Amino acid sequence: MKIAVLGATGRTGRLLVARALERGHDVIALARRPEQADISGNLRVVRADVADPGSVAAAVEGADVVLSGLGITKTQDPAILVDGAREIASAAPRVIWLTSLGMGATQGALGTLTGALLERVLRYEWDAKGEAGRVVRDVGGTTVHAGPLTDKSYRGNGNLLRAEEYEPRLFPPLAPRAGIADLMVAEAETPRFPDADTVAVFLRQTY
Ligand SMILES: NC(=O)c1ccc[n+]([C@@H]2O[C@H](COP(=O)([O-])OP(=O)(O)OC[C@H]3O[C@@H](n4cnc5c(N)ncnc54)[C@H](OP(=O)(O)O)[C@@H]3O)[C@@H](O)[C@H]2O)c1
Repeated sequence: MKIAVLGATGRTGRLLVARALERGHDVIALARRPEQADISGNLRVVRADVADPGSVAAAVEGADVVLSGLGITKTQDPAILVDGAREIASAAPRVIWLTSLGMGATQGALGTLTGALLERVLRYEWDAKGEAGRVVRDVGGTTVHAGPLTDKSYRGNGNLLRAEEYEPRLFPPLAPRAGIADLMVAEAETPRFPDADTVAVFLRQTY
């Protein structure tokens, strides 16, 4: 299938690209600066910047599904998250969107104390993340809520759960980025959670 990756130069995005290629898909990697992208493999790297209206829609044209690893820094306008969600939601037939556990549809999943702490730390993007998730769900997409991301190797011990089945715990489950990539590509191949908010859970992942 043809898979487009938004945020393809990011730490998770690169792994989404690598995993999709490994699985034999036709990959379009979206990058703000393709000439600096340093992404290799049998793929198309296309210039796309959420802040440049139309560039994202043009880049994902023809894709069967868009996987998003879009993320912002504190110095960026959080509207980029909502605009990015809107742009791919209107241009692609399917969207699988990575976001944070405890925000949007999973607000409350971290318990009162950890939830309040996370909201304080991530205040700059809190509302935008919630809104971006809603935009994705409004078009029947899938959100993947993850706990703290790590660069540890993935041992095949992950799963997506419906958000309503996730049982809040004191410490959010760590999520290896490689595992997130594996689960998102698997969801693209075989939709188990269309039109659903999900949580990525990894067993026996240690801090
Ligand atoms: N850190 C955590 O523990 C954690 C936990 C759960 C969920 N998440 C979420 O997971 C997502 C991925 O995280 P990550 O650490 O892999 O992110 P990351 O390494 O910061 O990558 C973010 C990506 O978004 C791209 N981007 C930023 N602004 C853009 C724009 N205007 N147009 C197009 N692309 C743009 C960046 O491109 P450039 O390379 O050009 O900057 C980069 O490819 C984020 O939404 C993050 O908040 C994080």
